[in-house]
Amino acid sequence: MISAGDSIIFSGPLSLLGLVLSLATWLFIRWPFHSKTQHVEIEECKDEKPFITPLPAPATDDPSRTSPKLYRPFRHGPNFITMGIRKLNWDNWIEMDSYFLRYHDMKASELKKDFNAHVKYVDNAVTKDACFELYEELVRYLTHRYPKIYRLRGGKMHNSLTEEIFPFPATTPDEALATSALLVQDDLVIMVENDDGQYHLDAAAVCLPGFWRLREKFRMSLDTLHFEAGVPHYAAKLQKSMNRFFQNLTPDKPVERNNFFIQLDDGLHWSHRMGDQAGTEVASWATANSKGLSIDEIHFRSERQTLRRLPRSKAVIFTVRTYFEPVTRIAQEPHIPGRLAEAILSWDETVSFYKGKSHWDKILLPYLDEQDRLQKERGIVKQEERSFPY
Ligand code: HEM
Repeated sequence: MISAGDSIIFSGPLSLLGLVLSLATWLFIRWPFHSKTQHVEIEECKDEKPFITPLPAPATDDPSRTSPKLYRPFRHGPNFITMGIRKLNWDNWIEMDSYFLRYHDMKASELKKDFNAHVKYVDNAVTKDACFELYEELVRYLTHRYPKIYRLRGGKMHNSLTEEIFPFPATTPDEALATSALLVQDDLVIMVENDDGQYHLDAAAVCLPGFWRLREKFRMSLDTLHFEAGVPHYAAKLQKSMNRFFQNLTPDKPVERNNFFIQLDDGLHWSHRMGDQAGTEVASWATANSKGLSIDEIHFRSERQTLRRLPRSKAVIFTVRTYFEPVTRIAQEPHIPGRLAEAILSWDETVSFYKGKSHWDKILLPYLDEQDRLQKERGIVKQEERSFPY
């Protein structure tokens, strides 16, 4: 019997033919394996060096004494609805300021009132892992960014402002989500790619949404979320680029964006003039009650959102930090009343409808004009516009 190894004992022309045949056979058998092995090695190499989120520099100011940032994301001239994403510096993933306790206490009270309305996750391996990973990433970030406030000691996460102590790591995904929510001022959303190739809202801790309920949006795809909310020009201007952005987002390239809304009351967690929080009707401008509205009730609501891909679970984290002030306060800032009025007046009909303009314009616009006039009288002149979002 001749085995493959025996082929070398052939001699003469036959031996040459045998050698060529053996070589060809060997190459034929080995090549696919060889190329596959190489591929696996490349994959393994990639896996050996997973992306590690950069550590942030410690904040220089005491955040508990720092005023909230003055995001005023509107400009002179035309203001369009756009994706408006900008590169995010890792140091600034989570912003914290002197309003922390107010936000924290509101979140704690919302969670106590109805935990399941505010914390949800889909029971599958990737989503559950993403909930734990989000908590891990937040602990790592906060203990380095604000080391005087957050400390990790003996398997416990300490917050010196609230004197809370949380187990670390969490034992369940909802514990990871709720703890994460209490550690920061932001609402937290986890978007996971589903079999349809779309990113879906598959986990979240949302306590301060203002206008919408988590149960209404839970499991929705990125497209459905925006179509249902009636986001202006979504199909024509945003849908394609947003989906492409989600597909291509890599863990090393976080982004941020800002928006603003006019709200009819002072409800940080829920705008009661839009509808009953405990009700079942979806809140919208169609259900809004602006009867007897006064300028003192009108609030300026601006969200600072960040997006990043988690390195392990590959889910996308969407943070929503709401900045919320009475409009009468922001109108005292130089140039703001004039610029805000100009932005509002530049909206087309679709955007005006989406922002509920007809509910508040007759009160807000004359007020802004008057404040602008007073500023000009006091000699506050038009200044060079700083870069967005100011
Ligand atoms: C690249 C990412 C995203 C972009 C560019 C984007 C863009 C927008 C835009 C332009 C609007 C209209 C108001 C505004 O200017 O913000 C909007 C509204 C909204 N988006 Fe997004 N979005 C993104 C991601 C998400 C994600 C991940 C969620 C998941 C919760 C979400 C949920 C919503 C909701 C609920 C509204 C309606 C808000 C309201 O009217 O109260 N968005 N989005």
